[in-house]
Amino acid sequence: MSYYERHIFFCLNKRDGEAACADHDAEAGFARCKSQAKAAGLMGAGKVRVNKAGCLDRCAGGPVAVVYPEGTWYTYVDAHDIDEIVESHLKHGQVVERLLLPPDVGR
Ligand code: FES
Repeated sequence: MSYYERHIFFCLNKRDGEAACADHDAEAGFARCKSQAKAAGLMGAGKVRVNKAGCLDRCAGGPVAVVYPEGTWYTYVDAHDIDEIVESHLKHGQVVERLLLPPDVGR
């Protein structure tokens, strides 16, 4: 069994002169996810972990986040999107279809 039931990684990468997730408020998305997951009592062993990540090599769809073990990739715009990922996916295991990153989006 996995130490965490679900693990979400947010790309917070910055890059000089090239588009990167940090240009799209990724830090705010990460912070919102962490605070909402904590407030919902989802954090900890056997539950959820919210982590920062460097470039996940899918920059063209940024900002991006990925949830494991499902390997579900998301793109998001605002706090409402993050709240939906927390409530639906991190809490109940339901994928948020409208925020899925298209499979062909790369760097
Ligand atoms: S900069 Fe975020 S995926 Fe590359």
